[in-house]
Amino acid sequence: MAGEFKLEDVLPWGRNKAEYTAFFDLASLALDTRILDCAGGPASFTAEMTEKGYRVTSVDPLYQFAADDIAGQVAATREKMQAGLCAALHRFVFTWHGSIKQHDQVRMAAVRRFLDDFEAGKRAGRYRTAALPDLPFTDDAFDLVLCSHFLFLYSDHLDTDHHVACIEEMMRIGTEARVFPLLDLEGEPSRHLDPVRSMLEARGFEATVQRVDYEFQKGGHSMLRVIAR
Ligand SMILES: C[S@@+](CC[C@H](N)C(=O)[O-])C[C@H]1O[C@@H](n2cnc3c(N)ncnc32)[C@H](O)[C@@H]1O
Repeated sequence: MAGEFKLEDVLPWGRNKAEYTAFFDLASLALDTRILDCAGGPASFTAEMTEKGYRVTSVDPLYQFAADDIAGQVAATREKMQAGLCAALHRFVFTWHGSIKQHDQVRMAAVRRFLDDFEAGKRAGRYRTAALPDLPFTDDAFDLVLCSHFLFLYSDHLDTDHHVACIEEMMRIGTEARVFPLLDLEGEPSRHLDPVRSMLEARGFEATVQRVDYEFQKGGHSMLRVIAR
């Protein structure tokens, strides 16, 4: 499958279960909810949720690579993120993490947790190699389909139609889709958000913006919730 997927320069970087819980308002999630994490990357959400007994699958083109390779890619991301954060400190708030150093520690702990789970999890089928907008799952296979730090964030990489195609695919395989954040890499509201919402509404979906209890990019405190009308 190698070569089929284009990562472009979307960087692998990993958040943890506590962060996902805040991004997507998951505090009262039922244990039997079937969850898919799209563009799950090296996040520890799937590993941590599986340990707690939840039913989570993660899908990402990154999973075509071996754990060592992914660790190398994350190390390169870490350098870029550290430099980027230092250069644009005014665009971030550290109420959640405390400081740049603690933020880095949280990220690296999440990635280690993912890497520890990756090979066994891949054999067990919870890490699946594929790319939006073409996912290898049957219609309605999941109750909740999440996407963290890919859609809207990479607004310069993905056009409006591609966003709509990705979210329609998330809604083909799931009952509800949630996307966070809704800002782009510059920390500006994604220019795709309003047209994507209109196009989804025209295609029979309800697409609402909901404030959540998390902010790292200044103003990045909302998720998009999509359900069928
Ligand atoms: C910034 S990481 C986010 C990882 C994780 N969701 C998180 O928030 O910690 C972005 C991820 O998007 C993945 N990606 C790139 N193109 C993709 C596509 N077409 N479909 C699904 N994932 C993709 C990358 O491989 C990378 O792991």
